[in-house]
Amino acid sequence: MSARQMLKVFVTRSIPQEGMKLLQKAAMCDVSVWDSDEPLPRAELLKKVEGAHGLLCLLSDRIDAEVLDAAGPNLKVISTMSVGFDHLAIDEIKKRGIRVGYTPDVLTDATAELTVALLLATARRLPEGIQEVKSGGWSSWKPLWLCGYGLSGSTVGVIGLGRIGLAIAQRLKPFGVKRRLYSGRQPKPQAGELGGEYVPLDTLLCESDFVVVSCSLNPDTQELCNKAFFSKMKNTAVFINTSRGAVVNQEDLLDALTSGQIAAAGLDVTTPEPLPTDHPLLRLNNCVVLPHIGSATFSTRGVMAELSAQNLLSGLTEDAMPSELKL
Ligand code: NDP
Ligand code: DGY
Repeated sequence: MSARQMLKVFVTRSIPQEGMKLLQKAAMCDVSVWDSDEPLPRAELLKKVEGAHGLLCLLSDRIDAEVLDAAGPNLKVISTMSVGFDHLAIDEIKKRGIRVGYTPDVLTDATAELTVALLLATARRLPEGIQEVKSGGWSSWKPLWLCGYGLSGSTVGVIGLGRIGLAIAQRLKPFGVKRRLYSGRQPKPQAGELGGEYVPLDTLLCESDFVVVSCSLNPDTQELCNKAFFSKMKNTAVFINTSRGAVVNQEDLLDALTSGQIAAAGLDVTTPEPLPTDHPLLRLNNCVVLPHIGSATFSTRGVMAELSAQNLLSGLTEDAMPSELKL
Protein backbone atom coordinates (compact mmCIF):
# COMPACT_ATOMS: atom_id res chain seq x y z
CA MET A 1 0.00 0.00 0.00
CA SER A 2 1.47 3.35 -0.97
CA ALA A 3 1.87 6.18 1.49
CA ARG A 4 -0.83 7.98 -0.49
CA GLN A 5 -3.38 5.28 0.33
CA MET A 6 -2.52 5.05 3.99
CA LEU A 7 -5.29 5.91 6.42
CA LYS A 8 -4.31 8.64 8.78
CA VAL A 9 -5.02 7.97 12.47
CA PHE A 10 -4.52 10.40 15.31
CA VAL A 11 -4.39 9.21 18.93
CA THR A 12 -4.81 12.05 21.42
CA ARG A 13 -2.74 10.51 24.27
CA SER A 14 -0.31 7.71 25.11
CA ILE A 15 -2.59 4.75 25.67
CA PRO A 16 -1.72 1.35 27.17
CA GLN A 17 0.42 -0.93 24.99
CA GLU A 18 -2.46 -3.37 24.42
CA GLY A 19 -4.05 -0.72 22.19
CA MET A 20 -0.91 0.81 20.70
CA LYS A 21 0.39 -2.58 19.52
CA LEU A 22 -2.77 -3.21 17.53
CA LEU A 23 -2.63 0.19 15.87
CA GLN A 24 1.07 -0.11 15.07
CA LYS A 25 0.53 -3.56 13.51
CA ALA A 26 -2.20 -2.25 11.20
CA ALA A 27 -0.43 -1.95 7.86
CA MET A 28 -3.07 0.34 6.37
CA CYS A 29 -2.62 3.01 9.06
CA ASP A 30 -0.27 5.92 9.43
CA VAL A 31 -0.57 6.43 13.18
CA SER A 32 0.48 9.55 15.02
CA VAL A 33 0.17 9.90 18.77
CA TRP A 34 0.26 12.81 21.21
CA ASP A 35 2.96 11.00 23.10
CA SER A 36 2.28 12.27 26.58
CA ASP A 37 0.39 11.35 29.71
CA GLU A 38 -1.09 14.86 29.74
CA PRO A 39 -3.83 16.13 27.42
CA LEU A 40 -2.80 17.97 24.29
CA PRO A 41 -3.62 21.69 24.06
CA ARG A 42 -6.74 22.44 22.06
CA ALA A 43 -4.74 24.24 19.33
CA GLU A 44 -2.60 21.10 18.88
CA LEU A 45 -5.67 18.90 18.65
CA LEU A 46 -7.09 21.13 15.91
CA LYS A 47 -3.78 20.93 14.05
CA LYS A 48 -3.04 17.22 14.52
CA VAL A 49 -6.50 16.01 13.57
CA GLU A 50 -6.33 17.63 10.13
CA GLY A 51 -6.98 15.08 7.39
CA ALA A 52 -7.40 12.18 9.84
CA HIS A 53 -9.51 9.20 8.78
CA GLY A 54 -9.66 7.90 12.34
CA LEU A 55 -9.47 9.60 15.74
CA LEU A 56 -8.85 7.75 19.00
CA CYS A 57 -9.66 10.08 21.88
CA LEU A 58 -10.23 10.17 25.63
CA LEU A 59 -13.06 11.57 27.74
CA SER A 60 -11.02 14.71 28.39
CA ASP A 61 -11.03 15.64 24.67
CA ARG A 62 -14.05 17.72 23.68
CA ILE A 63 -14.89 16.59 20.17
CA ASP A 64 -17.22 19.24 18.77
CA ALA A 65 -17.99 20.86 15.41
CA GLU A 66 -14.71 22.80 15.55
CA VAL A 67 -12.67 19.60 15.81
CA LEU A 68 -14.76 17.88 13.15
CA ASP A 69 -14.28 20.87 10.83
CA ALA A 70 -10.55 20.82 11.53
CA ALA A 71 -10.43 17.09 10.73
CA GLY A 72 -12.26 17.59 7.45
CA PRO A 73 -14.17 15.17 5.25
CA ASN A 74 -11.77 12.22 5.59
CA LEU A 75 -12.90 11.52 9.15
CA LYS A 76 -14.83 8.25 9.17
CA VAL A 77 -14.49 6.97 12.73
CA ILE A 78 -14.07 8.28 16.24
CA SER A 79 -13.17 5.79 18.93
CA THR A 80 -13.28 6.94 22.53
CA MET A 81 -11.46 5.03 25.25
CA SER A 82 -14.43 5.43 27.59
CA VAL A 83 -17.99 4.27 28.01
CA GLY A 84 -19.21 7.82 28.64
CA PHE A 85 -19.64 9.82 25.44
CA ASP A 86 -20.88 13.17 26.74
CA HIS A 87 -17.65 14.76 25.45
CA LEU A 88 -18.67 13.96 21.87
CA ALA A 89 -21.03 16.24 19.92
CA ILE A 90 -23.17 13.32 18.84
CA ASP A 91 -25.61 15.30 16.66
CA GLU A 92 -22.76 16.83 14.63
CA ILE A 93 -21.00 13.48 14.37
CA LYS A 94 -24.16 11.75 13.18
CA LYS A 95 -24.90 14.50 10.67
CA ARG A 96 -21.48 13.92 9.12
CA GLY A 97 -21.93 10.14 8.90
CA ILE A 98 -19.01 9.43 11.25
CA ARG A 99 -19.11 6.15 13.23
CA VAL A 100 -18.35 6.04 16.95
CA GLY A 101 -16.76 3.27 19.01
CA TYR A 102 -16.76 3.19 22.83
CA THR A 103 -15.87 0.81 25.68
CA PRO A 104 -18.94 -0.45 27.56
CA ASP A 105 -18.91 -3.59 29.78
CA VAL A 106 -15.13 -3.99 30.06
CA LEU A 107 -14.93 -1.36 32.82
CA THR A 108 -18.15 -2.20 34.64
CA ASP A 109 -16.57 -4.37 37.37
CA ALA A 110 -13.72 -1.96 38.10
CA THR A 111 -16.05 1.03 38.31
CA ALA A 112 -18.59 -0.77 40.49
CA GLU A 113 -15.78 -1.89 42.81
CA LEU A 114 -14.45 1.67 43.12
CA THR A 115 -17.96 2.97 43.80
CA VAL A 116 -18.36 0.55 46.70
CA ALA A 117 -14.89 1.52 47.99
CA LEU A 118 -15.81 5.21 47.80
CA LEU A 119 -19.14 4.61 49.51
CA LEU A 120 -17.50 2.76 52.39
CA ALA A 121 -14.64 5.28 52.65
CA THR A 122 -17.14 8.15 52.81
CA ALA A 123 -19.71 6.55 55.12
CA ARG A 124 -17.08 5.19 57.54
CA ARG A 125 -14.90 8.33 57.31
CA LEU A 126 -11.70 6.57 56.28
CA PRO A 127 -9.78 9.60 54.94
CA GLU A 128 -10.51 11.52 58.18
CA GLY A 129 -9.40 8.56 60.30
CA ILE A 130 -6.17 8.13 58.33
CA GLN A 131 -5.46 11.85 58.70
CA GLU A 132 -6.05 11.73 62.47
CA VAL A 133 -3.61 8.82 62.84
CA LYS A 134 -0.94 10.71 60.87
CA SER A 135 -1.45 14.06 62.59
CA GLY A 136 -1.50 12.77 66.17
CA GLY A 137 -5.22 13.48 66.58
CA TRP A 138 -5.72 9.87 67.79
CA SER A 139 -5.60 10.30 71.56
CA SER A 140 -7.63 7.28 72.70
CA TRP A 141 -10.51 4.99 71.77
CA LYS A 142 -13.61 7.18 72.21
CA PRO A 143 -17.26 6.08 72.10
CA LEU A 144 -18.47 8.47 69.41
CA TRP A 145 -15.26 9.53 67.71
CA LEU A 146 -15.27 9.12 63.90
CA CYS A 147 -18.60 7.32 63.91
CA GLY A 148 -20.27 7.03 60.55
CA TYR A 149 -23.03 5.10 58.83
CA GLY A 150 -23.19 1.34 58.07
CA LEU A 151 -24.72 -0.54 55.16
CA SER A 152 -26.26 -3.35 57.20
CA GLY A 153 -30.04 -2.93 57.38
CA SER A 154 -29.88 0.20 55.21
CA THR A 155 -31.78 1.33 52.13
CA VAL A 156 -29.65 2.06 49.07
CA GLY A 157 -31.00 4.01 46.10
CA VAL A 158 -29.30 3.80 42.72
CA ILE A 159 -30.06 6.46 40.11
CA GLY A 160 -29.54 4.91 36.67
CA LEU A 161 -29.56 1.12 36.94
CA GLY A 162 -27.48 0.56 33.81
CA ARG A 163 -24.50 -1.77 33.50
CA ILE A 164 -22.54 -0.09 36.29
CA GLY A 165 -25.56 0.72 38.48
CA LEU A 166 -26.61 -2.92 38.46
CA ALA A 167 -23.07 -4.11 39.25
CA ILE A 168 -22.96 -1.69 42.21
CA ALA A 169 -26.31 -2.94 43.53
CA GLN A 170 -25.14 -6.56 43.19
CA ARG A 171 -21.97 -5.83 45.14
CA LEU A 172 -23.85 -4.07 47.93
CA LYS A 173 -26.32 -6.91 48.51
CA PRO A 174 -23.94 -9.09 50.60
CA PHE A 175 -23.39 -6.17 53.00
CA GLY A 176 -26.87 -6.80 54.38
CA VAL A 177 -28.59 -3.92 52.61
CA LYS A 178 -32.30 -4.26 53.42
CA ARG A 179 -33.89 -2.43 50.47
CA ARG A 180 -32.50 -1.70 47.03
CA LEU A 181 -34.37 1.12 45.30
CA TYR A 182 -33.64 2.42 41.85
CA SER A 183 -34.98 5.13 39.58
CA GLY A 184 -34.50 5.87 35.92
CA ARG A 185 -36.39 6.10 32.67
CA GLN A 186 -37.98 2.66 32.92
CA PRO A 187 -38.01 -0.43 35.17
CA LYS A 188 -35.26 -2.96 34.48
CA PRO A 189 -36.14 -6.66 34.23
CA GLN A 190 -32.64 -7.57 35.48
CA ALA A 191 -33.41 -5.82 38.80
CA GLY A 192 -35.84 -8.61 39.69
CA GLU A 193 -33.32 -11.14 40.95
CA LEU A 194 -31.73 -8.43 43.10
CA GLY A 195 -35.03 -7.59 44.72
CA GLY A 196 -34.65 -4.09 43.27
CA GLU A 197 -37.67 -1.79 43.65
CA TYR A 198 -38.34 0.69 40.84
CA VAL A 199 -39.53 3.91 42.48
CA PRO A 200 -40.02 7.56 41.52
CA LEU A 201 -36.92 9.67 42.13
CA ASP A 202 -38.57 11.55 45.01
CA THR A 203 -39.34 8.30 46.83
CA LEU A 204 -35.76 7.14 46.33
CA LEU A 205 -34.41 10.39 47.76
CA CYS A 206 -36.73 10.41 50.80
CA GLU A 207 -36.19 6.76 51.71
CA SER A 208 -32.54 6.03 50.92
CA ASP A 209 -29.68 6.03 53.42
CA PHE A 210 -27.24 5.95 50.52
CA VAL A 211 -27.94 7.62 47.18
CA VAL A 212 -25.65 6.41 44.41
CA VAL A 213 -25.59 8.16 41.03
CA SER A 214 -24.54 5.96 38.11
CA CYS A 215 -26.55 7.37 35.20
CA SER A 216 -25.07 8.80 32.03
CA LEU A 217 -24.74 12.56 31.58
CA ASN A 218 -27.31 13.87 29.12
CA PRO A 219 -29.59 16.92 28.94
CA ASP A 220 -32.07 15.26 31.35
CA THR A 221 -29.46 14.41 33.98
CA GLN A 222 -27.43 17.65 33.78
CA GLU A 223 -27.54 19.14 37.31
CA LEU A 224 -30.18 16.60 38.29
CA CYS A 225 -28.64 16.68 41.78
CA ASN A 226 -29.52 20.23 42.79
CA LYS A 227 -30.96 22.07 45.79
CA ALA A 228 -34.41 20.50 45.42
CA PHE A 229 -32.82 17.05 45.07
CA PHE A 230 -30.65 17.35 48.18
CA SER A 231 -33.52 18.87 50.19
CA LYS A 232 -35.43 15.59 49.79
CA MET A 233 -32.60 13.45 51.17
CA LYS A 234 -32.35 12.40 54.82
CA ASN A 235 -29.99 14.41 57.04
CA THR A 236 -28.17 11.15 57.75
CA ALA A 237 -27.88 10.13 54.09
CA VAL A 238 -24.66 9.70 52.13
CA PHE A 239 -24.46 10.83 48.48
CA ILE A 240 -22.12 9.08 46.04
CA ASN A 241 -21.43 10.10 42.43
CA THR A 242 -19.30 8.07 40.03
CA SER A 243 -21.07 9.12 36.82
CA ARG A 244 -20.09 12.61 35.66
CA GLY A 245 -19.51 15.82 37.62
CA ALA A 246 -22.06 17.80 35.64
CA VAL A 247 -24.89 15.63 36.99
CA VAL A 248 -24.40 17.62 40.20
CA ASN A 249 -24.87 21.30 40.92
CA GLN A 250 -21.73 21.61 43.07
CA GLU A 251 -22.81 24.85 44.76
CA ASP A 252 -25.98 23.15 45.92
CA LEU A 253 -24.01 20.12 47.06
CA LEU A 254 -21.66 22.36 49.02
CA ASP A 255 -24.66 24.00 50.73
CA ALA A 256 -26.22 20.62 51.50
CA LEU A 257 -22.97 19.41 53.08
CA THR A 258 -22.22 22.54 55.09
CA SER A 259 -25.79 23.05 56.32
CA GLY A 260 -26.18 19.45 57.48
CA GLN A 261 -28.91 18.82 54.90
CA ILE A 262 -27.07 15.59 54.06
CA ALA A 263 -24.40 13.72 56.04
CA ALA A 264 -21.60 13.24 53.53
CA ALA A 265 -20.66 12.94 49.87
CA GLY A 266 -18.18 10.83 47.94
CA LEU A 267 -17.31 12.02 44.43
CA ASP A 268 -15.14 10.34 41.83
CA VAL A 269 -16.15 12.96 39.27
CA THR A 270 -16.34 16.74 39.56
CA THR A 271 -16.69 19.96 37.59
CA PRO A 272 -14.11 20.85 36.51
CA GLU A 273 -11.59 18.02 36.44
CA PRO A 274 -9.17 18.42 38.05
CA LEU A 275 -10.98 20.21 40.85
CA PRO A 276 -8.87 23.25 41.85
CA THR A 277 -6.98 22.52 45.05
CA ASP A 278 -8.57 25.56 46.74
CA HIS A 279 -12.12 24.40 45.98
CA PRO A 280 -14.36 24.67 49.07
CA LEU A 281 -15.50 21.04 48.73
CA LEU A 282 -11.92 19.98 49.48
CA ARG A 283 -12.00 21.76 52.82
CA LEU A 284 -14.91 19.69 54.10
CA ASN A 285 -14.35 16.64 56.27
CA ASN A 286 -17.63 15.16 55.10
CA CYS A 287 -16.69 15.19 51.42
CA VAL A 288 -14.35 12.63 49.87
CA VAL A 289 -13.10 13.50 46.39
CA LEU A 290 -11.25 11.08 44.12
CA PRO A 291 -9.58 11.98 40.80
CA HIS A 292 -11.88 10.11 38.39
CA ILE A 293 -10.35 6.67 38.92
CA GLY A 294 -13.46 4.48 38.56
CA SER A 295 -11.98 2.27 35.84
CA ALA A 296 -8.37 2.60 36.96
CA THR A 297 -7.09 -0.95 37.25
CA PHE A 298 -4.15 -1.99 35.08
CA SER A 299 -6.08 -4.78 33.41
CA THR A 300 -9.21 -2.70 32.80
CA ARG A 301 -7.29 0.15 31.22
CA GLY A 302 -5.41 -2.37 29.06
CA VAL A 303 -8.64 -3.91 27.82
CA MET A 304 -10.18 -0.46 27.25
CA ALA A 305 -7.19 0.52 25.10
CA GLU A 306 -7.38 -2.74 23.15
CA LEU A 307 -11.12 -2.38 22.55
CA SER A 308 -10.81 1.22 21.45
CA ALA A 309 -8.08 0.26 18.96
CA GLN A 310 -10.22 -2.62 17.65
CA ASN A 311 -13.21 -0.29 17.30
CA LEU A 312 -11.12 2.23 15.39
CA LEU A 313 -9.62 -0.33 13.01
CA SER A 314 -12.97 -1.99 12.33
CA GLY A 315 -14.48 1.42 11.60
CA LEU A 316 -11.68 2.22 9.18
CA THR A 317 -12.13 -1.05 7.29
CA GLU A 318 -15.90 -0.56 7.32
CA ASP A 319 -16.44 -3.74 9.33
CA ALA A 320 -18.66 -4.29 12.37
CA MET A 321 -17.06 -2.78 15.45
CA PRO A 322 -16.85 -4.86 18.66
CA SER A 323 -18.59 -1.94 20.46
CA GLU A 324 -20.22 0.62 18.24
CA LEU A 325 -22.38 3.36 19.70
CA LYS A 326 -25.79 3.40 18.04
CA LEU A 327 -26.27 7.00 16.85
P1 NDP B 1 -25.38 2.51 30.87
O1 NDP B 1 -25.82 3.17 29.62
O2 NDP B 1 -25.47 1.04 30.98
O3 NDP B 1 -26.17 3.13 32.11
C1 NDP B 1 -26.56 4.45 32.18
C2 NDP B 1 -27.86 4.50 32.90
O4 NDP B 1 -28.26 5.87 33.02
C3 NDP B 1 -28.99 3.78 32.15
O5 NDP B 1 -29.62 2.89 33.04
C4 NDP B 1 -29.93 4.90 31.77
O6 NDP B 1 -31.27 4.53 31.77
C5 NDP B 1 -29.65 5.88 32.90
N1 NDP B 1 -30.19 7.19 32.58
C6 NDP B 1 -30.06 7.91 31.47
N2 NDP B 1 -30.78 9.04 31.55
C7 NDP B 1 -31.39 9.01 32.76
C8 NDP B 1 -32.26 9.88 33.43
N3 NDP B 1 -32.71 11.00 32.85
N4 NDP B 1 -32.66 9.56 34.68
C9 NDP B 1 -32.23 8.42 35.26
N5 NDP B 1 -31.41 7.55 34.66
C10 NDP B 1 -30.99 7.84 33.42
O7 NDP B 1 -23.90 3.02 31.12
P2 NDP B 1 -22.82 2.46 32.15
O8 NDP B 1 -23.52 1.92 33.35
O9 NDP B 1 -21.86 1.59 31.44
O10 NDP B 1 -22.06 3.83 32.54
C11 NDP B 1 -22.79 4.85 33.17
C12 NDP B 1 -21.96 6.11 33.27
O11 NDP B 1 -20.95 5.95 34.24
C13 NDP B 1 -21.19 6.50 32.01
O12 NDP B 1 -22.02 7.19 31.10
C14 NDP B 1 -20.09 7.36 32.55
O13 NDP B 1 -20.51 8.71 32.57
C15 NDP B 1 -19.91 6.88 33.98
N6 NDP B 1 -18.64 6.19 34.19
C16 NDP B 1 -17.78 6.71 35.12
C17 NDP B 1 -16.60 6.06 35.41
C18 NDP B 1 -15.66 6.62 36.40
O14 NDP B 1 -14.46 6.43 36.23
N7 NDP B 1 -16.13 7.27 37.44
C19 NDP B 1 -16.23 4.80 34.72
C20 NDP B 1 -17.21 4.36 33.77
C21 NDP B 1 -18.37 5.03 33.54
P3 NDP B 1 -31.92 3.74 30.52
O15 NDP B 1 -31.40 2.37 30.63
O16 NDP B 1 -33.36 3.85 30.77
O17 NDP B 1 -31.46 4.44 29.30
C1 DGY C 1 -15.71 6.30 31.24
O1 DGY C 1 -15.26 5.31 30.61
O2 DGY C 1 -16.67 6.95 30.85
C2 DGY C 1 -15.04 6.66 32.52
O3 DGY C 1 -15.41 7.86 33.02
C3 DGY C 1 -13.57 6.43 32.58
O4 DGY C 1 -13.30 5.08 32.41
